[in-house]
Amino acid sequence: MNPPPKAKVTSEAIRSMKQRGEKIPSLTAYDFPMARLLDQAGIPLILVGDSLGMVVLGYPDTTHVTMAEMEHHVRAVARAKPTAMVVADLPYRSYETVEAAVDNAKRLVAAGAEGVKAEGGRLIQPQVRAIVESGIPFLGHLGMLPQHVLEEGGYRVKGKREAEQQALLADADALVEAGAFGVVLELVTPLVAKEMTARLPIPTIGIGSGQDCDGQILVTPDLLGMLPWFSLKHVKPKLNAADQMRAVVKEWKEAISK
Ligand code: KIV
Repeated sequence: MNPPPKAKVTSEAIRSMKQRGEKIPSLTAYDFPMARLLDQAGIPLILVGDSLGMVVLGYPDTTHVTMAEMEHHVRAVARAKPTAMVVADLPYRSYETVEAAVDNAKRLVAAGAEGVKAEGGRLIQPQVRAIVESGIPFLGHLGMLPQHVLEEGGYRVKGKREAEQQALLADADALVEAGAFGVVLELVTPLVAKEMTARLPIPTIGIGSGQDCDGQILVTPDLLGMLPWFSLKHVKPKLNAADQMRAVVKEWKEAISK
């Protein structure tokens, strides 16, 4: 007999995982097979991240990713019909005004997303409020903001200085007030991430921010060791997929060349 179908994961379900003290393991997917495999492995939140730009499309950073590219990959992920909640990134400069933010969030939902994520706190609070009021669940993103990598001149840990800690807390409060259902904390010092996790009523999902967040998120190809040309301090690949793929292809090439 088949097991009973699992209930679709919603933003409320993600929030209630924090209340139950259940960790929230989250991963990125950019296409149908990866979404299906992550879902079969029981991942409750799948992010179609704009890391798409670097890990799939070969751009140097996320600032090159367009709405059309995000929609294309959200459609592919949504075709897997995952039980997991599918959240999609609003790409660079797609949420500069309230109108643009709501229009573009609706485009991602039309492509199959069940929630959207954007980077920033107090500065984008009106956009977040409008997205939530239009009925679209919103996931925040604080700490290192990859869409600002060019202004910041690199990927730097946030929260080491008192002023940065205060800014992070104020930004998180702004997101909560605007109705965000959770917040990704990227490269935030573990102590500050722990404090935010204890203080916020919504889940924190950390990447490179220590073990005390309510959940963890990784870029799936980093976890699988598919991109050896990027070396990241916060991820130890659990598989060496790049070496394995090269070896299998070489073996096949040699076998058919005999
Ligand atoms: O774009 C992305 O994949 C992300 C994660 C790193 C959180 O924003």
